[in-house]
Amino acid sequence: MNWKTLVAAVAGVGFALPAVAQDREFRLGLITPPVHVWNQEVAALNDTLQEVSDGRFSVVAFPSGQLGNEATMLQQLQTGALDMAWLTTAEVTTRVPNMAALHAPFLVDNIADAAAVLRSEPAREILEDLPRATGTVGVCYAMTGMRQLMTRQPVSSAADLSGMRFRITPAPAIRTFFEMFGAAPAPMPLTQVYDALANGQIDAIDMDFESIINFRYYEHAPNMMVTNHHMFGMVALVSARVWGGMSEEDRTLIGDAIQLHCDRTIDRFVDEEAGKLERLREAAGINITDDVGPEFFGDIVERWDAHWAEQTPYVARLRELVAGF
Ligand code: BEZ
Repeated sequence: MNWKTLVAAVAGVGFALPAVAQDREFRLGLITPPVHVWNQEVAALNDTLQEVSDGRFSVVAFPSGQLGNEATMLQQLQTGALDMAWLTTAEVTTRVPNMAALHAPFLVDNIADAAAVLRSEPAREILEDLPRATGTVGVCYAMTGMRQLMTRQPVSSAADLSGMRFRITPAPAIRTFFEMFGAAPAPMPLTQVYDALANGQIDAIDMDFESIINFRYYEHAPNMMVTNHHMFGMVALVSARVWGGMSEEDRTLIGDAIQLHCDRTIDRFVDEEAGKLERLREAAGINITDDVGPEFFGDIVERWDAHWAEQTPYVARLRELVAGF
């Protein structure tokens, strides 16, 4: 199944409207700042779309949560108030439990395998839930790399993490992981994290190299454990109302353009992840503990899987997929 066959799924839940060929500037929301790779690829998507549509289509980006947090943007997509968004898979898990499997702890141990999971058939199947559950079409996945832990205080054992107020991206599957090692999860949007660290509201964060560099979180949480404990996906979404109102030809043109920039985003993260860690090693005052694997957290993988296997069969399917890599 690819995004082209999602046309039928959208029509099946009543979003199909008469297709009218017209010029269109699509409004696209993101929580990330202009410097982020996602935003750079959205700018490139605008160029691609203008080129392939002979100027009929363009994209205007609303970065840094200008339109609200990701939950708000998802609602706007559902009503058709927003045309497109690049949202975290974490946000989509709040409506699509199958997507929680993409956040299984230690599902993959390197970013190349994360890319392979996001490009796999089981991952694409999960996108079929989106029209009904969210009123959106998930055209493709990308990512913002693997997640690491950053703390104010140095950590030498899992016991040190117990009771820490850990900022997490709001998503039940992520919350489960942090609760299971005894932390106090503090869900908040990306846009609030720097200030929450600076004013002492939180003790630690769950974050990727790209965002750690962009926001310089190490200024207030200078201890980084390189855990790669889950991959952090993105879904390129189009409002099903918008999608249903376009001709098949235009959907192909737009879908292909979005797919191109999802692929470029994934490739950039795979190529640049190791270099980002090296940049962080050079940052003043940062204390890095390498290679913190699942054993650091005891039997958390088994416990997390047992809990989430009750919500979705995709935990087992993705573990099986990865076992074959
Ligand atoms: C976050 O919520 O941590 C996040 C969201 C989007 C991109 C990167 C990080």
